[in-house]
Amino acid sequence: MCGIVGYIGKREATPILLEGLKRLEYRGYDSAGVAVLQNEKIEYKKRTGRVAELSRAALNNGLSGTLGICHTRWATHGGVTEENAHPHLSNDGKIALVHNGVIENYLSIKKFLTSKGITFYSETDTEVFVNLIAYHYEKEAESPNRFKESVRRSLKHIEGTYGIAAICRDCPDEMVGARKGSPLIVGVGENEYLIASDVSALVSRTSNVVYLNDGELVSIKNGELSLVDYEEKTLKPEIHQVDWDTSEGELGDFEHFMLKEIFEQSEAIQNAMRGRFSDDESSAKFGGLNLSAQELRQIDRILFCACGTAWHACLVGEYLIERYARIPVEVEYASEFRYRNAPLDKNTLVIVISQSGETIDTLAALKEAKRKGYRTLAINNSVGSTIARESDGGIYQHAGPEVGVASTKAFTSQLMILSMMAVYFGRLRDLSFQEGLECVKGLKRVPELVENAVQQNDAIYKIAEKYKDMTDCLFLGRQDMFPIALEGALKLKEISYIHAEGYPAAEMKHGPIALISKDCPVIVLATQPDIFGKLISNIQEVKARGAPVIAVTCESHPLPEGLADDEIVIPDCHRAALPILASIPMQLLSYHIAKLRGCDVDKPRNLAKSVTVE
Ligand code: F6R
Repeated sequence: MCGIVGYIGKREATPILLEGLKRLEYRGYDSAGVAVLQNEKIEYKKRTGRVAELSRAALNNGLSGTLGICHTRWATHGGVTEENAHPHLSNDGKIALVHNGVIENYLSIKKFLTSKGITFYSETDTEVFVNLIAYHYEKEAESPNRFKESVRRSLKHIEGTYGIAAICRDCPDEMVGARKGSPLIVGVGENEYLIASDVSALVSRTSNVVYLNDGELVSIKNGELSLVDYEEKTLKPEIHQVDWDTSEGELGDFEHFMLKEIFEQSEAIQNAMRGRFSDDESSAKFGGLNLSAQELRQIDRILFCACGTAWHACLVGEYLIERYARIPVEVEYASEFRYRNAPLDKNTLVIVISQSGETIDTLAALKEAKRKGYRTLAINNSVGSTIARESDGGIYQHAGPEVGVASTKAFTSQLMILSMMAVYFGRLRDLSFQEGLECVKGLKRVPELVENAVQQNDAIYKIAEKYKDMTDCLFLGRQDMFPIALEGALKLKEISYIHAEGYPAAEMKHGPIALISKDCPVIVLATQPDIFGKLISNIQEVKARGAPVIAVTCESHPLPEGLADDEIVIPDCHRAALPILASIPMQLLSYHIAKLRGCDVDKPRNLAKSVTVE
């Protein structure tokens, strides 16, 4: 959460900073600010609202200089005001800081600084942080690396998480950055360097990047990059090449990123599969697991950890792996796992799933699993992300950048990888050659079927028009359609602000049925031939209580005439691919309802795409 960008070089910093910031807006969008060193003074502009507001203010007022930092905020400490927006300046105006993370001991530091006569204009922990740097800066007057040293000394007193970039009025040729718990990347360009929370902010200027690890401090001074740890040990920066097509992050002809990404799912799924089926077409294969077939056969339990939509993917994974590989699976919220002393068997494999690869709870769960000595894998969409680098092995999704805050293509691409993993683990055990062949054949058809499913966009729009004013909505599904019901409810609530809940269809009778009335439409995922009769009974129970029903069914199993008020038909597919196909109408329905209600689909209130605070 929060996006930061810093620039030092020979060009005008402000437009470069703002362009980078625009690409990071998904990380937080309640206020933004930029500071540049201009005529030996740190000049800044801050605005509540979007980066576009800030750009207007900063470009019109001609903030000019070749060294600067900027920030887009997702509020943690203090409300959404210009005072609380970053960059924050020290009392003496010498140092400016942008920060992503949370300083846990800021109150005690604030008390100390107050006793030294420092006053504060904001409610933020970051203003405390920058004044601590300024305090050490005064104390380090004799040090040859005074600015860097003042940051390093401050960091030794800071508890919490941070990714920072800082500049100093006295040091026109220096920018300093550091990280602990929040991502930070340095872009190495020609005669210029950038610091950012995410590669997306850098790739239009350079494809050479250095990923900082926790506890590392970078200083770019007189065109030279130096990396140290907090004990001042010099580290060798490792330059990685990022392969990123900048046009992927553009809207093109679409009105919203969410819609674009829904339509990109066929391609994203194709990318998840590419080169990952065995030569005999009866299994999958993955290059980066770092586990031999023998080691995988010894795994007798899998624990999945993730947050939000990725957690729903894990729930689908549970059904798939238990069905095809017969390995017991458990699914945990990452935020719960990290604070629970769950006993795990030594043959447990821990798999985390994260689109961004930076979600702090998922990262902490991964670290906790590693600390306990478990083998860990990550399914992840962001090459070089912290989670990708911390796990023992992993599978990249290759879904391309997902910009819409509500996850769509990353989710279905995760489902594809989980289906393939289930087949792969199954084939290492008891899944027969024939069953494996059928699964692979079925999965290979998915991109084409997804292409067909999104063609229902117009029909789903009409259904959305009918239900757009509802205030409550229930999503019901059984087996692996239960997580899809949860995901459908999450999509609807997060972008349209309609209260929605997902339930196992039969569980409805144990409480939620009390909510059912003509004003609470119910969306039923009635897609499985083996339990079709049971699902029809559930629909009857809902109808008997007057609620409108929107049913999702498969081509070969339509509902009896007149049973549902509206029916969305998805293409027939292999059983392992059903959760993917059933997700598409859930996404489109939420999208259209949110849009018809005038909501900001890509940037829903209070949310941010990459949740890097606890
Ligand atoms: C909802 C959504 C979130 C994320 C969650 C985890 O649409 O996108 O619930 O799934 O914040 O994010 P990642 O996958 O980046 O760890």
